[in-house]
Amino acid sequence: MDPAISARGLVKTYGTVTALDGVDLTVPKGTVLGLLGPNGAGKTTIVRVLSTLLKPDSGSAEVAGIDVLAHPRAVRRRIGLSGQYAAVDEYLTGYENLDMIGRLYHLGRKKSRERARELLAAFRLEDAGDRPSKTYSGGMRRRLDLAGALVADPPVLFLDEPTTGLDPRGRTDMWEVIQGLVAGGTTLLLTTQYLEEADLLADEIVVIDHGRIIAQGTSDQLKSQVGGERLELTVKDGARLAEARDLLEPRGVGKAVLDDRSRQLVMPVAGGAEVLTEALRLLDSASIGLDDVGLRRPTLDDVFLSLTGRATAQDEDADESAKVKEGARA
Ligand SMILES: Nc1ncnc2c1ncn2[C@@H]1O[C@H](COP(=O)(O)OP(=O)(O)O)[C@@H](O)[C@H]1O
Ligand SMILES: [Mg+2]
Repeated sequence: MDPAISARGLVKTYGTVTALDGVDLTVPKGTVLGLLGPNGAGKTTIVRVLSTLLKPDSGSAEVAGIDVLAHPRAVRRRIGLSGQYAAVDEYLTGYENLDMIGRLYHLGRKKSRERARELLAAFRLEDAGDRPSKTYSGGMRRRLDLAGALVADPPVLFLDEPTTGLDPRGRTDMWEVIQGLVAGGTTLLLTTQYLEEADLLADEIVVIDHGRIIAQGTSDQLKSQVGGERLELTVKDGARLAEARDLLEPRGVGKAVLDDRSRQLVMPVAGGAEVLTEALRLLDSASIGLDDVGLRRPTLDDVFLSLTGRATAQDEDADESAKVKEGARA
């Protein structure tokens, strides 16, 4: 079966900035690809190339079986796109926004109206449907924008950071909506900075940084790539951290990492509770006191950290929501 999206060797530079540095992607029909990466990784650039809004410097791509560069108009008829900053007309009601899009797609007057009502209901905007969308919350705008991308019932959908800047409630609402779409068989390429979101929604995850793919696989595959369980503990007296390491490292399956400031030791282990008991016994017999100890499975955060040497851009969130608000006002 032909994939719904495929791309080979995409390169895009802006002056001296290499936004895409040779990206290959394949998304089988009816699946969700999560494109995960920090701010500036190249996520939006990929979406813009695949949705025909931007020409790459080199490389090729097909969406719904059609060459993106050779037949952009035909591709546009088969895709839906919902961007990082919701593009709704503030002065129109939710209903009018959707009805207008239906007309632009030549659905005809009757069909456009039906579709608008149907989508408002599906996205829990029925009650707000006849108010100007400028009265909507950030989450409602995003849902309306997404509804707009679905008016023509496209088989392939691109969602660029659909939940960035939303509050936790807005985020879980959006996740439900997206899960509903996917259950209906839509092929989805979703970009996100949130590991949790990729974990929850994506069949396959591609991790991108500086315009390059640095890892890909299912969430489980990526997690097992960084190893199995870890033993994590915090000693009471930081001066004894190295001593704790010397005692425990022979029982681990890899090197222990120490953080003097937080008095913490993290070490890959195998064997679960037995290793934990053994570690406690060793430390106790050396009278090394603990503030905290536990076994932890790797999360996607660990994957990201081990691949890029830094955590995801969660601290840029405040920034992002400010931008979303600005975008909404503009
Ligand atoms: N129009 C543009 N002009 C110059 N640089 C750009 C432009 N668009 C994106 N870039 C740069 O390309 C890189 C990738 O950007 P982008 O695809 O928007 O990343 P992401 O969506 O992952 O945050 C960044 O370094 C960004 O600054
Ligand atoms: Mg982006």
